[in-house]
Amino acid sequence: MQTKNLNKQKEDFEKSIKDLIEKGYAEFNINLTKEDFIRCMEPMKQITAKNHGLTYCTDPEAEEHDRGLFYRSKNQGKDDKWCFHHYENIENEFHKKFGEGVWNNDLLILLNNSKKVHREFQKKSSEIVKAIDSLMPEFGLYDLYINPMSQAFQVARFVAYDEAKERFTVAGRHFDQSFITLQGYQSHSGLYLIDQQGKKIKLEYHEGKVWVFFGRKAPLLTGGKLTASEHGVNVFEKGIQRDAVPFFGHTYRPEIL
Ligand SMILES: [Fe+2]
Repeated sequence: MQTKNLNKQKEDFEKSIKDLIEKGYAEFNINLTKEDFIRCMEPMKQITAKNHGLTYCTDPEAEEHDRGLFYRSKNQGKDDKWCFHHYENIENEFHKKFGEGVWNNDLLILLNNSKKVHREFQKKSSEIVKAIDSLMPEFGLYDLYINPMSQAFQVARFVAYDEAKERFTVAGRHFDQSFITLQGYQSHSGLYLIDQQGKKIKLEYHEGKVWVFFGRKAPLLTGGKLTASEHGVNVFEKGIQRDAVPFFGHTYRPEIL
């Protein structure tokens, strides 16, 4: 029974790799539940909620402007949101910021839980890049991807949009700057991708799965053999508060940074 499951998993993975290379996007299994993401979004919202109006914040009690690890991203007042990036060195940043004193409990919970999400994203993306590399070894993609200089840039972005005050479009069509992007979670549908025939494909969140597509670095590193996928986030309705957690699998190569 177990062997059968393992074979099925291997088959699914290979099918997704094939789709990713041929179509530019595919869905993969990942060891992350909806709860894993919510366990990050909740403490993050607790921390940022008390700091509405600030550009940065780390300390929920702060009344002063705080250049912290959480920041506001604004686009013409329309898709205002709080973001938190979990990257490899984040714990050192926390230590720099707070020293060895008693840290806020929500911060500790967020840090712990986002570490797991980041680790699973990095693990899955490395597995995917390794499989792609074995099919086109001439580009050295896997070595580049697992290089510590690249890994230092690879981030899980936790995004909590403000509740929509009116009906609006979150993000217009664009390409990511990454090599590979994993779209891990969205609390409300809206993400779409433009396929190679120019058709708009809805990418719905399915628990335990992740959507994967390439960013601008992929064609640059492979002479166009891999193609970046244009995507965006649809209109969302008044009253909707959207959460999303993508992972940007960056690659460090100075000449094309
Ligand atoms: Fe994007």
